[in-house]
Amino acid sequence: MTRSMIDILDFTTEELQELIDTANDIIANPEFYCERCRGKKLATLFFEPSTRTRLSFEAAMYELGGNVIGFSEAQSSSASKGESVADTAKVISCYADIIAMRHPKEGAPLVAAMNASIPVINAGDGGHNHPTQTLADLLTIYREKGGFDGLSVGFCGDLKFGRTVHSLINALSRYEGLKFFFISPEELKVPSYVKKGILAERSIPYVQTTDLESAMPELDILYMTRVQRERFFNEEDYLRLKDSYILTPEKLKNAKESLSIMHPLPRVNEISVAIDEDPRACYFKQVLYGKYMRMALILKLLKEAGTL
Ligand code: NCD
Repeated sequence: MTRSMIDILDFTTEELQELIDTANDIIANPEFYCERCRGKKLATLFFEPSTRTRLSFEAAMYELGGNVIGFSEAQSSSASKGESVADTAKVISCYADIIAMRHPKEGAPLVAAMNASIPVINAGDGGHNHPTQTLADLLTIYREKGGFDGLSVGFCGDLKFGRTVHSLINALSRYEGLKFFFISPEELKVPSYVKKGILAERSIPYVQTTDLESAMPELDILYMTRVQRERFFNEEDYLRLKDSYILTPEKLKNAKESLSIMHPLPRVNEISVAIDEDPRACYFKQVLYGKYMRMALILKLLKEAGTL
């Protein structure tokens, strides 16, 4: 099977570091990379809405000198005629060199990877995983903190359905001396499959709380997330929980000066715009870093597939 990125743990810590190093090199020497994918095609197969992830992949491929084909909603693809993900993957393998796929069903990009003859990148599958957002998050943390060991990382908001949270917990669990704070309403706690996986295996200490302010003074990173409306079974629950946490300057009173505030975006209400000017706010840098990490990933997967 051609090498793909379905889960962040498909890549070793050394390989993730290699991607970080490449992304940093792209930032420093963009002209060296601007023709590397000349004549290559990325197919963006987005069965679920997305702005930044899809455009980030497109911008990444264009900045490598390559081309992009694809669709941005299931209705405009043959899925609306009943085509399976497996067949779509086989068909697109005849047209493109690499696929980025977002799908509402958990596991769909894995099925695509098992059937495609080109690399497949999971651009988000349901409430499961979102490894390329994690790549953006890792580069942000690396550039802000200089490494990963020994950090206290708070995740706040919808930790149940937030796929970016699950992938980032998995990725960070492989470093040394970390401590996690899971801050959420009772109903939106981190799923037990995440806690029982690598977190338990590596005996990583964590605190579960509903109280953001009590955790605040300890945090090096605060990763805010929106409540994932589209994954709720009823609107009433969403309305009750949606404003559980709103980060305001007041709530940062006891935070470290060196805190980094992250958010995968889109932001709804979770971070007051008054925080955008705070030097600790990193969420717009995170967007930019996501593009560079996707460039690094496309280069690595195309090289491994023998296309480059
Ligand atoms: C995230 C996602 O799609 O899961 N967005 C993104 O890709 N940056 C987060 C979210 O939608 O809340």
